[in-house]
Amino acid sequence: MDFKTSLCNALERATGIPFDQFEEMIETPPNPEIGDLALPCFKLAKSLRKAPPVIAQELFEKLGDIDGFSRIEPVGGYLNFFTDRSRFAKTVVSRVLNEKDGYASSTYGAGKNVCVEYSSINIAKPFGIHHITTTVLGNSLKRIYDHLGFKTVSINHLGDWGTQFGKMIVAYNRWGDREKIENGDSMRELVALYVKFHEEAELDPSLNDEARAAFHRIEQHTPADWKLFQWFKEVTLRDVARVYDLLGIEFDSYNGESFYEDKMPAVIEELKDKGISKIDNGMTIVDLSEYDMPPCIILKSDGSTIYATRDIAAAKYRKDSYDFYKSLYVVAYQQNLHFSQVFKVLELMGYDWAKDCVHVNFGMISMEDATFSTRKGNAIYLEDVLNTAIEKTLAIIKEKSPNLENKEIVARQVGVGALVFSVLYNNRIKDYTFSWDKSLNFDGETGPYAQYTYARSCSVLRKAREAGFDVDFDIDRLDYSVLTDEASGSLLRAIDALPETVRQAAEKYEPYLISRRVIEICSCFNRFYYDNRIMENDAKVRNARLALTEAARTAIRVGLYLIGLEAPERM
Ligand code: ARG
Repeated sequence: MDFKTSLCNALERATGIPFDQFEEMIETPPNPEIGDLALPCFKLAKSLRKAPPVIAQELFEKLGDIDGFSRIEPVGGYLNFFTDRSRFAKTVVSRVLNEKDGYASSTYGAGKNVCVEYSSINIAKPFGIHHITTTVLGNSLKRIYDHLGFKTVSINHLGDWGTQFGKMIVAYNRWGDREKIENGDSMRELVALYVKFHEEAELDPSLNDEARAAFHRIEQHTPADWKLFQWFKEVTLRDVARVYDLLGIEFDSYNGESFYEDKMPAVIEELKDKGISKIDNGMTIVDLSEYDMPPCIILKSDGSTIYATRDIAAAKYRKDSYDFYKSLYVVAYQQNLHFSQVFKVLELMGYDWAKDCVHVNFGMISMEDATFSTRKGNAIYLEDVLNTAIEKTLAIIKEKSPNLENKEIVARQVGVGALVFSVLYNNRIKDYTFSWDKSLNFDGETGPYAQYTYARSCSVLRKAREAGFDVDFDIDRLDYSVLTDEASGSLLRAIDALPETVRQAAEKYEPYLISRRVIEICSCFNRFYYDNRIMENDAKVRNARLALTEAARTAIRVGLYLIGLEAPERM
């Protein structure tokens, strides 16, 4: 039984006011000592034409007993409701134990498709630390939407088009070493070629003309150049796959900017036909002055397309291919204007689905660790940061748990998790400075703390099993009155809040809400663990506490999964 439903039903019966209205009005008091649920009666004052305290008192007398509640209290303008603690424990524990990894999932999004574009790296450029937020935020949103029953399409909109690829061809043909690129750090080798091109072009500007010509040959799909261009992509993607593997991230589509090359003429035609674009100084633009924005350039004066043109084509392609309910773009706030322009142009084209395109923007990340920013020029490679996190974690594990098996695997799960968690612990728009000490702390509000708590819950159940106790709980026969103490109650409430948190996270595109809920469940579990002896001799007490441990363990695992972390069983 759902307590809120039971309460709203009773309120509807007592007042004749529809269920839905009560569902909106009911609040969760900040402190359970006030009540588990509350009705702020001032919200009824207008329609009932009575003072809130009077409404509270009258409703209290009319309601009588409500199924699932042990006490009702009128306090001033509020009516406070206390749930029956054992009934509450039974509801929460049985739901989690039944649903397992499906806990907090729903069919809310059934039949709806959501495009989630994230990471969107650039070919032959560093996959840097600045790309971590889009990568992990997008991955988390994808998992959250999947969990809510939507069908997601994850898209890596590669930056694989533009004159820089002409420069790459020129640089490669002059100074490139195929062996080195194939077998070494491909991305670094390509970036080095790009840097060299710019140094040399300073001395010999004619290289720039060569580069333009080379890019033109790519546009014409001239075999030798086209092949090289594809090869740059291939080796870059092979390189970045290592990072995606570490993070446990996959994409359904790698359709990047070049994919839209042959889809743009139709868009340009359409803009002209609908009278939306105009020629200005030889450029084709969409005037957006009416909306307080600079014009959106569609074609430069030399007739070449730009970034925005490709995004307009991409948005249309995604609508046509996936008929999305929403299309998310997880991209830094520096591109706010760009997306406002693109979405506005789509709207002007008459596409009402332009309103379903969402720029999920986020703030900047910087590193506290100075050794990183100076070591290799100004690009900090994400792979280096991840590997450093793993190394540092391995050192901590060797010290803390010298007997642990598979130390390397756990160090990867925890090191990578520490980084991911720290990025997803604050609201996304905030600029953020990464600190090793804070992120790798096993006691703070961190990934390692959550994973450590998870491992502790696993160890409790493992020991119970090893002691020969039954841990396949018979949900209907547990004594839930064992779980009515304060510590158990807080833990149950934290677990119970997860499904609503997941919905909120999806609605606001804010995975950090889940990270915080996970930390709350963990700290409640740790309090429960210290306050109560789980391995009691009394089987009734022991079983109920073990079942709650299993529920907490499941909720933590689900929460961690949704933000992109693995959950090691031993640490
Ligand atoms: N590749 C771009 C960058 O690294 C991000 C692409 C964002 N997505 C888009 N559809 N424009 O800055």
